[in-house]
Amino acid sequence: MQKYIIEPIEELNGEIEVDGAKNGILPIMAATLLSTEPCIIHKVPSLKDVGVMVEIIRHIGANVDRAKSSMTVNVPKIKNSEAPYDYVSQMRSSFDVMGPLLARTGLARVPLPGGCAIGERPIDLHLKGFKALGASVEFGHGFVQAKADKLVGANIYLDFPSVGATKNIMMAATLAEGVTVIENAAKEPEIVDLAIFLSKMGAKISGSGTDTIRITGVKELKGCEHATLPDRIEAGTFLIMAAMNKSNLLIKNIVPSHLKPVIAKLIEAGVNIKEEEDGLRVISDGKIKPVDITTLPYPGFPTDLQAPFMALLCLADGSSTVLETVFESRFSHISELNRMGAKIKIEGHSAVITGPCQLQSADVKATDLRAGAALVLASLVAQGATTIHDIYHIDRGYNGLETKLRNLGVHITRV
Ligand code: UD1
Repeated sequence: MQKYIIEPIEELNGEIEVDGAKNGILPIMAATLLSTEPCIIHKVPSLKDVGVMVEIIRHIGANVDRAKSSMTVNVPKIKNSEAPYDYVSQMRSSFDVMGPLLARTGLARVPLPGGCAIGERPIDLHLKGFKALGASVEFGHGFVQAKADKLVGANIYLDFPSVGATKNIMMAATLAEGVTVIENAAKEPEIVDLAIFLSKMGAKISGSGTDTIRITGVKELKGCEHATLPDRIEAGTFLIMAAMNKSNLLIKNIVPSHLKPVIAKLIEAGVNIKEEEDGLRVISDGKIKPVDITTLPYPGFPTDLQAPFMALLCLADGSSTVLETVFESRFSHISELNRMGAKIKIEGHSAVITGPCQLQSADVKATDLRAGAALVLASLVAQGATTIHDIYHIDRGYNGLETKLRNLGVHITRV
């Protein structure tokens, strides 16, 4: 198991660049299964999760060529309608291949993704969608299987605007007969980007980015070329990191409109954020006012930035509250932040953070991807060198983090 040793830094000055979005590229890679023609994708982040998705689609029949940050995927034939357990068990978003497989071959067998460190993550809404499109769904031997002679468009109302279910249903519906309408759909920028990619492939989709998406099925999809959108969660992590330190940091390749609630909360906390031609500049004296946040589906405050933001709130001069409404239990970072001297109490789905506190170095564990990010941010302002264990979680979602931090003068070592 690898770990990071991170020393605190006096000031964070300079520039940092955001990579292509993890949550954007993964469904796009799954969508390439919908066509027999090659798709070329640019700005592909070099992440562990991308490697896992490469192995899954290769197993299914894709030829994948990677050169620098571009990737060409060609799936002339589906060799296998089953996704391999070894890879699916590593990453929940491997379930994204279910919709494309079902649409292209009428059969998809994917191991149940199961729970994970951020609580129960059911797939009922994905399956509700497949069934509405005419598929039969069965469980057995740890797999979920969806089968259909043909898919037929339908009206599907999602009880919750699930990102995963919206992606999967949208992809399945591209090759269905007739019109599919997804109501209460997720509105995340990654959904919009997937819709753009599918439209370049020849799909007929309108309404992405609103809560009603309409897909008119077509007979076949073609190859296309696309660049992954910037990772708003990586960008948000850097915004929060800059806010926590004395800093003058320019964050490049960022889409400010994707981060409105985060920017608003940082400004409320007293941080100075300026839009410049090639990015957002954060100027901070590291003094933070307490603020309350509630995580919500997009365009609300993203649950993926809840843990990093909590690290910031430990520094605030007073008491702040964080309410998590998207996931059942996403507070595993709290015990680790408390090991570093934070004063955070859990009250139901809320966390109450009492600040200000001087964080101290400790041995801590990244319990999931974003919890790991929170610990990296905390270690930059802690007294002494912090050791973060289980950093494979962080490698899932932050491309070249060490190099990016070293360029800002941070002493970070992977052991
Ligand atoms: C995606 C993101 C993840 C982010 C999350 C919420 C990817 C690869 N991952 O995850 O980083 O934290 O959106 O913004 O894009 N739910 C059901 N039934 C379902 C599906 C979901 O009840 O069939 C519930 C989940 O348990 C959870 C909520 O809906 O409480 C949100 O889940 P969802 O939006 O589906 O998240 P993911 O797509 O898994």
